[in-house]
Amino acid sequence: MTPSKASAQAADICKLGPVVPVLIVENADDAVPMAEALVAGGLPALEVTLRTPAALEAIAAMAKVEGGVVGAGTLLTHKDVEAAKKAGALFGVSPGATDAVLDAAEANDLPLLPGAATASEVMRLLERGYTIQKFFPAETSGGAPALKALSSPLPQVKFCPTGGVSLSNVYDYLALPNTICVGGSWVAPANLVAAKDWDGIKKLATEAAALKT
Ligand code: 3PG
Repeated sequence: MTPSKASAQAADICKLGPVVPVLIVENADDAVPMAEALVAGGLPALEVTLRTPAALEAIAAMAKVEGGVVGAGTLLTHKDVEAAKKAGALFGVSPGATDAVLDAAEANDLPLLPGAATASEVMRLLERGYTIQKFFPAETSGGAPALKALSSPLPQVKFCPTGGVSLSNVYDYLALPNTICVGGSWVAPANLVAAKDWDGIKKLATEAAALKT
């Protein structure tokens, strides 16, 4: 299976660091200092979830941060994909995969990390050329043992496990041959964002960037 262009580009983004921070930005004014802290800590690929009214403005602001590669997460519809692209997102992430989202990403030339949690979901995405997928929700879908089990029949697919991943279990995932990177919100926790503790977030990013894939 030749990887689709969208998947090949998503692979390049996943290789930028061991962790893709999953960001929930409530206040667009936080976007630039948050992105600067994460990039300075060594995590250039940033996923801003489209879950808050500030998300698109945050993506547009973060897109100007030097060294950052900002993407949009929680893409659920065709419109989400178009809005993300218009805001300046360089990649997209979806918790699952619908034809509408896949078609929109391909039509808008947006590298996409679509979500899958079962062998059938993985196979369906593979049929469309997605050799890089998000394993979501990772921990409640069986965690690292489930992901390891998928590597045997489906070695050609690499994953970014996300959902419940933290420092306490990240090595279980990173040790697997089919993990390309992981996603997680632990590097920008809500309490540090609320306190505007950008140094604290940079410290968490530095620690995460040192994890070995
Ligand atoms: C999400 O989309 O919320 C991600 O899966 C992040 O999950 P986490 O907060 O458990 O890291």
